Amino acid sequence: MEKVSVSLIKADVGGIPGHSTVHPKLKEKASECLAEAKEKGLLVDYRVLHVGDDLQLLMSHRKGIDSEEIHKLAWETFEAATKIAKELKLHGAGQDLLSDAFSGNIKGMGPGIAEMEFTERGSETLVAFMMDKTEPGSFNFPIYKIFADPFNTAGLIIDPLLIDGFIFEVWNIKERKRIFLKCPEDLYLLLSLIGAKSKYVIKRVFPKDSSPLPKDEPAVVVSTEKLFFIAEKYVGKDDPVALVRAQSGLPALGEVLEPFSVPYLVSGWMRGSHNGPLMPVSFKDAQCTRFDGPPRVIAAGFQISHGNFIGPIDLFDDPAFDLSRKKALELADYLRVQGPFEPHRLPPEEMEYTTLPGVLKKLETRFEELE
Ligand code: 13P
Ligand code: 13P
Ligand code: MG
Ligand code: MG
Repeated sequence: MEKVSVSLIKADVGGIPGHSTVHPKLKEKASECLAEAKEKGLLVDYRVLHVGDDLQLLMSHRKGIDSEEIHKLAWETFEAATKIAKELKLHGAGQDLLSDAFSGNIKGMGPGIAEMEFTERGSETLVAFMMDKTEPGSFNFPIYKIFADPFNTAGLIIDPLLIDGFIFEVWNIKERKRIFLKCPEDLYLLLSLIGAKSKYVIKRVFPKDSSPLPKDEPAVVVSTEKLFFIAEKYVGKDDPVALVRAQSGLPALGEVLEPFSVPYLVSGWMRGSHNGPLMPVSFKDAQCTRFDGPPRVIAAGFQISHGNFIGPIDLFDDPAFDLSRKKALELADYLRVQGPFEPHRLPPEEMEYTTLPGVLKKLETRFEELE
C-alpha cells in the first residue's frame, strides 16, 4: 500500500502593500526552492500558493510527519523569500520567522504547519484550506459541521460508511493539553469545548473502528501555532491552514465546502484585534484590503495520484458562494459602524495578545483608587 505525506507549511515573510498580499517574486523564489527539492527526490510534488500576506508551501513526500528534512526545506525556502522581501522592503519582511537558525523542527519557530501521512486510496480527494487575518480556532465551526452535523453532511445519515461518526482530537492551546471525543456520542461535550475557539481548537479528526480506513490516519489536520505564545509579544495573527480529505468513506467534496456558505464570525481582523465575517474567495481575490480584510479563506482542491497533486481547482471561484460573500460584506458594514466597541473589537482577554497592553501601560499612573 502506497503511503503519502502531505505538508502544508506557511509563513508571512512580508506583504505588499502593508499586510494585504504576497509579492509574486516571493512565490517565484519559493517555487524555485521546491522545484530543486523535487529534482533531488526529496519532494514528490509541490504547489506554491498564497492567501492575503501568507506564503503557502504545499508539499507531498515520503518522509512522514515531523521530518527534519522537509521542515528544513520549508524554513530555508522562507529564508530565501525573506531575503527578497527585505531587498524590496516589503512590509513586515520576515515577520513570522521568529528564530535565527533552524533547529530540527519548524514547530514553535513561527510558521504554521498542517501535515498528515496516509495510505493513498483509489481516489484520494484533498482540500487545502488557507485563511488570512484570523486564528486556528476559526476551523472549529466548519470542521464540526463537516464531520458531525447531519444538517451539513448528508452522508452522516445516509452513507453506511459515515453513520458511526468520527473521533475529534481537540487541543487546549493555552494549557497545552488534548482530549479525544467521539461523535455523535460526545457531540454536546465537543460543542461545549470548541465554541470557545480561542482556547479549544480541533487539531485532527480520525475515522472510528468501524471504518475501513486506517484508524491512525487522520481525515483532517489543522495548524495550531500561536505566534504570541512563541514570541511573547504581538507579531501578527496566527493565520491558519487545514488539510481535509474527502469522499469514499469520508464526507463528499460538497459537504466539505458547505459550511462556508455562511460567512461565520472569526477573530483576527485589523491588527489581530477585531471580529469579522470569514469571506470565502477565489485565488484572485485572496488579498486583504478593506480594514486589512475582511478575513478570507481560499480552498484548493486536488486529486492525489501516486503522491502527485492533480490540481489545484480554485473551489470558491464559483457563483455558488456569491451570496456568502455578499452577506460577509453586509456583516462587515454592520460591524465596522461599531468601531472600537466590543464585540467588533475583541474582549480584554484576547486583546492581551495585541498591542493594546502597551497603551494601557501608559495609563497606569493616571488611575486613582476608589474609596
Ligand atoms: P497578518 O497577521 O496577516 O500579518 O496581519 C496583521 C494585521 O493584523 C493587519 O491588520
Ligand atoms: P505595523 O504597521 O507595525 O505593521 O502595525 C500595524 C499592523 O498592521 C499590525 O497588524
Ligand atoms: Mg502580515
Ligand atoms: Mg497573514
